Amino acid sequence: MSQSAPLLSVRDLKVHFEIKGDSPWPWTPSRWLKAVDGVSFDISPGETLGIVGESGCGKSTLARAMLNLIPATSGSIVWQEQELFGASRQTWQSVRKSVQMIFQDPLASLDPRMTIGQIIAEPLRTHYPAMTSTEAMQKVRAMMEQVGLTEQQINRYPHEFSGGQCQRIGIARALVMEPKLVICDEPVSALDVSIQAQIINLLMELQSRMGLALVFIAHDLAVVKHISQRVMVMYLGRTMELATKQAIYQDPRHPYTQALLSAIPTPDPRRERHKKLQLLQGDLPSPINPPSGCIFRTRCPKAVAGCAVQTPGLRALNTDTQVACDIV
Ligand SMILES: Nc1ncnc2c1ncn2[C@@H]1O[C@H](COP(=O)(O)OP(=O)(O)O)[C@@H](O)[C@H]1O
Ligand code: SF4
Ligand SMILES: [Mg+2]
Repeated sequence: MSQSAPLLSVRDLKVHFEIKGDSPWPWTPSRWLKAVDGVSFDISPGETLGIVGESGCGKSTLARAMLNLIPATSGSIVWQEQELFGASRQTWQSVRKSVQMIFQDPLASLDPRMTIGQIIAEPLRTHYPAMTSTEAMQKVRAMMEQVGLTEQQINRYPHEFSGGQCQRIGIARALVMEPKLVICDEPVSALDVSIQAQIINLLMELQSRMGLALVFIAHDLAVVKHISQRVMVMYLGRTMELATKQAIYQDPRHPYTQALLSAIPTPDPRRERHKKLQLLQGDLPSPINPPSGCIFRTRCPKAVAGCAVQTPGLRALNTDTQVACDIV
């Protein structure tokens, strides 16, 4: 694991949404949906943390809370030694110069009325209003080239581009600010498999050229394997396992990680034949009324009676792996 001081430290972060029922009685108590419920991790300069979990596990909410696009309910977000929980708008505004986001749906995240040049230049105009148009356009052209777009495309509109190209535009828009950290929320989930690899390779290339740290979110462990140094597996708003890439793919310890991993086909046909498939039983429980004790117990093939009572915290098994399960 990296020894340098973390760029970002998240501790016990919670994002709870109030769910207003349809009861006509005003005194009916509110219910809470715990989308993120006590998540902690660090990100070092230049590293990639993969975040994985089924749809509805709180990945996007966590990503948005890291940028205050959704306010966190409690916890701590320390960016370069500065506490951001409860920080002023100005503080967040200045952090957003260094932390950028790339979204899942490339076309939907681009304003259809703006040209590609205007879209990529927008963050520069917001954060550096004194920058001249010539300077901004110079940066935009240089960035377009870096992501594999051509200068001739600068006055075109988003609908004229394919999904993969739209994601290149989204990447250019995020990177034109020369950020230190980019949070990528399922940036390849909407793309064809062949295009996915191109976009992941492009991100890795730009990462090493610009020294970026990345948070790379996906719902599938296969997608984050190539790009991540460490991987965090989330289930219903909590971390089930946080481990180095080597540990998570060679020796997954949490039953949920093992199930996610067993669903990925291996290239070796002999191993594939002998692989024990651990399919997840049932659906994701409602996050408004989650299971008692271990939140994964209703789908866990290894659950014992005590799992309904004790809520396992994340504990270190060794220097590579932290796991939230009491029986491993
Ligand atoms: N604004 C909101 N209000 C209420 N519930 C929300 C809101 N945003 C997300 N949720 C709920 O929070 C949970 C986590 O959602 P999300 O973070 O989008 O998960 P993921 O990105 O892992 O699919 C889901 O149950 C979702 O329905
Ligand atoms: S604590 Fe129990 S239910 Fe939870 S993952 Fe471990 S064995 Fe499964
Ligand atoms: Mg999401």
